[in-house]
Amino acid sequence: MELVIASGNKGKIREYRDIFEPFGFRVLSQNEKGISLEVEETGTTFEENAVLKAQAVYDLAHCAVISDDSGLEVAALGGEPGIYSARYRGLETEHERRMAILESLEGAADRSARFVTCICYIEESGERHLFTGIWNGQIAMEESGTNGFGYDPIFIADEAEGRTTASLPITFKETYSHRARAVRELMAYLAARQGKE
Ligand code: IMP
Repeated sequence: MELVIASGNKGKIREYRDIFEPFGFRVLSQNEKGISLEVEETGTTFEENAVLKAQAVYDLAHCAVISDDSGLEVAALGGEPGIYSARYRGLETEHERRMAILESLEGAADRSARFVTCICYIEESGERHLFTGIWNGQIAMEESGTNGFGYDPIFIADEAEGRTTASLPITFKETYSHRARAVRELMAYLAARQGKE
């Protein structure tokens, strides 16, 4: 059975290929399936955006599809940057976006934050499933570390003993991250379903 990944991100494509192939799927990127589609993320939640992306590809491909949407929510900023994490305040670079958050939190007592990932999996039949992963932590006082990407240099996970995600080995994210948690839910679903077949 074919599964199309509704993304152009090479890291994501590799990750989902590794998850689905052991379950007997022939995994293709959107490009490999011949679909060139830039879906506008007009949803107001991670869930809505993940569904928009997966459904648009499903409507063209009519086979199983997977997509996801992630971001950082900072409590003192009313959940911002949230779904706008990749384009927060129109700032060009990841460094600028991180600095915008640090500056907004100057003097704030509450620095709590969380990463969220929502995965949308549409089965060949069109049945939709959503899997959400949440990773709680705090925003650091300053950037540190060079591992990872995005907001990793300013995010201190609850399990991290005061160090930013970017200061820790990549294996740490593989165990605890929002994405790892959502992926585990998805894999548990696939394993349970395979057990029923
Ligand atoms: P995406 O939906 O997975 O492409 O993530 C959107 C944006 O959220 C990224 O461009 C990052 O700014 C931020 N983000 C998502 N996941 C992470 C992460 O694991 N670490 C740091 N930033 C992240």
